[in-house]
Amino acid sequence: MNMGVTIAGLTVTYGDLPAVKDVSLRLEDGTITGLVGESGSGKSTLALSLLGHGNIASGSVFIDGVGDMSKMDKGALRAVRGAKIGYVFQAAQNSLNPLLTVGKQLLDLAKSHGVRDVRGAHPLLRRMGLDPDRVLNSYQHELSGGMRQRVGIMFALVLNAHVLVLDEPTTALDMITQANILQIVREVHADRGLTTLIVTHDVGVVAEVASRVAVMYGGRIVECGSTKEVLANPRHPYTRGLINAIPRLTGPVDVAKPLPGTPPTLGTIPAVGCVFRARCPIRMDVCSAQEPEMIDDVACHAVGVTAK
Ligand SMILES: Nc1ncnc2c1ncn2[C@@H]1O[C@H](COP(=O)(O)OP(=O)(O)O)[C@@H](O)[C@H]1O
Ligand SMILES: [Mg+2]
Repeated sequence: MNMGVTIAGLTVTYGDLPAVKDVSLRLEDGTITGLVGESGSGKSTLALSLLGHGNIASGSVFIDGVGDMSKMDKGALRAVRGAKIGYVFQAAQNSLNPLLTVGKQLLDLAKSHGVRDVRGAHPLLRRMGLDPDRVLNSYQHELSGGMRQRVGIMFALVLNAHVLVLDEPTTALDMITQANILQIVREVHADRGLTTLIVTHDVGVVAEVASRVAVMYGGRIVECGSTKEVLANPRHPYTRGLINAIPRLTGPVDVAKPLPGTPPTLGTIPAVGCVFRARCPIRMDVCSAQEPEMIDDVACHAVGVTAK
């Protein structure tokens, strides 16, 4: 089943303000793509558009074999959410209903989709190293953060979705649990032949699981490509900044250079020119006047200059 995703010219707004602006991105069938950027860059807004959520002002989110999520009516969206696109929401660790057991919530999910048989939850939970009977009879407070995250993945996949979106699945987990969750993401992705989008502020997570990466800043994708290439040879100054900000386990501590300044908020994203220029170490005059186009998978005036 080919279920890649093509996002084309997508703009998503809150009020009049675009949180995602003219974004184009292809998620190839069967790949894991990492969407990375600091908090507030528009990652969750972009990810939610795969469910047809948000005020999509222009552009399209086409899922192969499903259709354009931006044009679907409510009934069609309800039918495909969960069944075709599985979603683990940001802070999913805390989004279970505290008053109902996991099993009861599973039955409710099944009922809302007119599905009778959710025994598929058992092998999924077992695959993730959990005891299905125990987990299904548990309430949220009886499960650890890592267990809840796995329950979230089970909910996302139990209706046999082929596209999986995970929004910050390892944030707020300790290092060992993070590593476990990423291992599970890799395994489940491969077992089921999924098309996966993993959203994170952590370049390390991308390096760990994603074969492709898209770097987001101020509502734009500023660079994308194969993870190997982008991490070995980052071309956009923002990508370089993100990578230099990673603390290394070996060598002097001062190699990690935090990116100076803070990312813009919706109200302060410049309407004209490059959205990154205020923090950019190599900005030029043209950067204030003209927004750089995405050329050869990078949107930066300076990269264009050095390439010539
Ligand atoms: N419901 C909302 N109403 C208004 N602004 C929002 C809302 N949700 C997010 N934003 C703003 O949109 C921008 C992008 O947010 P988001 O997509 O959550 O970014 P990220 O996931 O990268 O942290 C931020 O400036 C954020 O404050
Ligand atoms: Mg987010």
